[in-house]
Amino acid sequence: MSVKTVGVVFGGLSPEHEVSVITSLQAAAAMDRAKYHPVPVYIAKDGVWYTGEGLLDIEGYSDLNSLVAAAARIEVLPGGSGRLRVGEVKRGALFSSGRREWTFDVMFLGLHGGAGENGGMQGFCELMGVPYTGSGILGSALAMDKIRSKDFCGRKGIPVVESMQIREQTWAGDEERWLDRICSWASFPLIVKPVGLGSSIGIRRTEDRDQLDGAIEEAFRYDPAILVERVVSPLREINAAVLGDEDHARASVLEEPISGIEMLSFQDKYIRGGEGSKGVTPASKDPGSAGGMASQNRLIPAPLTEDQTEYIQKLAVRIFQILGCAGVARIDFLMNADTGDVFFNEINTIPGSLSFYLWEPADLAFQDLVHELIEIALRRYHDTADRVRSYDVNLLEEHSARGLKA
Ligand SMILES: Nc1ncnc2c1ncn2[C@@H]1O[C@H](COP(=O)(O)OP(=O)(O)O)[C@@H](O)[C@H]1O
Ligand SMILES: [Mg+2]
Repeated sequence: MSVKTVGVVFGGLSPEHEVSVITSLQAAAAMDRAKYHPVPVYIAKDGVWYTGEGLLDIEGYSDLNSLVAAAARIEVLPGGSGRLRVGEVKRGALFSSGRREWTFDVMFLGLHGGAGENGGMQGFCELMGVPYTGSGILGSALAMDKIRSKDFCGRKGIPVVESMQIREQTWAGDEERWLDRICSWASFPLIVKPVGLGSSIGIRRTEDRDQLDGAIEEAFRYDPAILVERVVSPLREINAAVLGDEDHARASVLEEPISGIEMLSFQDKYIRGGEGSKGVTPASKDPGSAGGMASQNRLIPAPLTEDQTEYIQKLAVRIFQILGCAGVARIDFLMNADTGDVFFNEINTIPGSLSFYLWEPADLAFQDLVHELIEIALRRYHDTADRVRSYDVNLLEEHSARGLKA
């Protein structure tokens, strides 16, 4: 087997930019060099793409200006046919003669949040005709939508927490009626969340009508659609990773994040250190690289009975397949600590650290996880690319066109 050139894509326009850097550098470091040659594709916060060896070193990210100044700015070139070509953008040069080029056999997507995880980047790869890791457009888009993902799963019998959707256009000018409706639908406490965000951004727990009003206004700063949800209390959170595709998928061991706080803020998760929705974990090869984000508080495996564990693993695999996911995803559940009732909360199609720490205890090393993700990407690509997608007949040839006109 020849060595495949892997474009590792990370950064991006998302609050989870830094977390994405960590996840992706970990994945690049874990790639078996006998099979893969990882090339960084760093999307800076202004959307400009860069490559260069220096981008694989976490130390450089403490000074972003120097980092990109030393890197090569790149742009996508046409005509990759099954691969993605990029070329250096020479600063100030009118002609691009002698510029460096890279051709990727597969794109390894390590973006978190925003268009990197919601189907946008996946759509770009489809359009360019290059294989990419993780879920496709539909799975990514459904998973990112906190209402539709639960709605789809709820209809298939997956237990979900009841919630109410509000769109800003219908809220504006009708606030009191909405508040009446919500208050007659459920009792406090209630949780308010933006539909498409992660990392606890814009999420608030509310105890009364006033707080609810404020939390809804706050959530609309981030998203034109929000949800108001019943609270699970007392709460235990249980997460499972799933690996595979729509036909074959398996679940990892379970984790239980422990915080001691009812709800973690973005700061708690990433800056002060602690478990996050994207919780990155230092890879064994690269200890301490993640600074505050590295310190984790989680129990692996989650202390549950065998039956509970198996039940949650089965739910996780079903959710993954209902939503049409691929690659690795992490599915987060809310459990009522008193009753043991379990509810599907959300799914991350590009989880922090790709959840490698949930596969290692199941005897799948990070290197093998990365390999399997690339294999799935190539298999999925060929599954569609190798089918008939166009006909040699030109329906608009002169005589046919005349026929159509008539
Ligand atoms: N219905 C709920 N009941 C109790 N706690 C909740 C509920 N929904 C969310 N939370 C708490 O808020 C956190 C963030 O919510 P989540 O839906 O996971 O959003 P994010 O995508 O930002 O991680 C959860 O990890 C959990 O601690
Ligand atoms: Mg979460």
